[in-house]
Amino acid sequence: MSEQAAADSIPNLDWRGAEYEADPLGVLRDIATIGDIAKTELGYAILGRDLGRMVAREDLPISVGHIPPAISPYLAERTKTPLLTRHGPEHVQLRSILTRALRAQMIETLRPAIRATFDGLLDKVIVAGGGDLVRDLFNPYPALVLAPLLGIPHADIDMVADWVTTSAGWTNILNPVERLPRIEAAWRSLEAYMLALLVERRANLGGDIFSELIRQMAGADDLEVVGIAMEMTRAGLDTTRRQLASTMHALLENPAEWQRLADDPSLASTVVEEGMRYASITHTVTRQAIAEKEIAGVAAEPGTVFTVMAAIANRDPSVYDAPDRFDAARSPCPHMTFGFGSHVCVGAPLARMEMVEAFTALAERVQSVTLCGEVLRSPVSLGRVPTTLRVVLIGRDASA
Ligand code: HEM
Repeated sequence: MSEQAAADSIPNLDWRGAEYEADPLGVLRDIATIGDIAKTELGYAILGRDLGRMVAREDLPISVGHIPPAISPYLAERTKTPLLTRHGPEHVQLRSILTRALRAQMIETLRPAIRATFDGLLDKVIVAGGGDLVRDLFNPYPALVLAPLLGIPHADIDMVADWVTTSAGWTNILNPVERLPRIEAAWRSLEAYMLALLVERRANLGGDIFSELIRQMAGADDLEVVGIAMEMTRAGLDTTRRQLASTMHALLENPAEWQRLADDPSLASTVVEEGMRYASITHTVTRQAIAEKEIAGVAAEPGTVFTVMAAIANRDPSVYDAPDRFDAARSPCPHMTFGFGSHVCVGAPLARMEMVEAFTALAERVQSVTLCGEVLRSPVSLGRVPTTLRVVLIGRDASA
């Protein structure tokens, strides 16, 4: 087959269509019967896990939308070169700074404090006999964990978390232009706050992550240090919240698997990995070609976006037995929810620890938990994650 004929035979994936919104895995599965690559409006979608890992391993930037200066000169400047869009030695150097600041050994020392933070939130839900697990547990928890690591005082956490969530909206290409002023206002407030915090930290360096960043980035200008700290915070807050909610939802829909966990809390670590595979909040992992090059068997022009469909790669039947089943003890479980290759998540040790502590606490302290009320979910582009999880919950302490 000629190169042109081979390119013409690649099926199309319409990820803006109603059919995709209703059943993304179904649409992707149908295409996967033809092959593991499809055309998209931005370039190509990769459906198979092995091909996806090959693409993610390339030293290429992640593709994120760019904000044109005509719409917001401030945001255009601030979002020009985030970590995600860097590659090569500059990216490796910045990553190593963050990897050191978030190293697993240091994270391990935080375990008791992280568990105590989750227990404090769970206490209130147990006393109330239930509530909305997203609002009461999973939303506040990662901010409460991250704030002391950055030196943010307790009284400021809600305000800062709000700015973080709103300013993170810039990466969503489906954001309507009307939302940009809100995003810009949140970004400006967060930046001013973090610059003031930087001055304070610098005069008072400690063992926290922000102090570590300041030490590692000695010589960099203040806006760059603050930019990286803000990026890390944005990357770590909503992701962890949403993955906790998504995994909990999967457990609530699979009560026998919840029971296995409740009977044996040591399963929390396999539950966390299986939740990330089965109910992944990472719908896609992207890479953008920067030069003419053959990638995944196709000739890519600079700018072509390769979108690895992580959600379907996580259900690849050649890798996982019964991939559509939630198995609380599945091991190994090599999912793509933290991405893969050059940009793989540097916050994974912290995120894993937070989630394992949360599910251990739930398993040890909850006698029964039952969904009540409708579960609202975000759109597919945001991972189709539950935005409410109203439950009746009885604690073991309460039933003793
Ligand atoms: C369940 C929680 C989390 C999930 C699902 C998640 C997922 C991801 C994904 C998919 C990527 C892109 C990987 C790729 O393209 O190959 C990423 C990158 C990143 N994550 Fe996470 N993340 C989580 C938590 C965190 C936390 C807690 C932090 C830090 C506090 C963090 C910091 C970062 C940073 C800085 C990057 C950019 C790495 C780079 O471009 O080299 N993440 N994460």
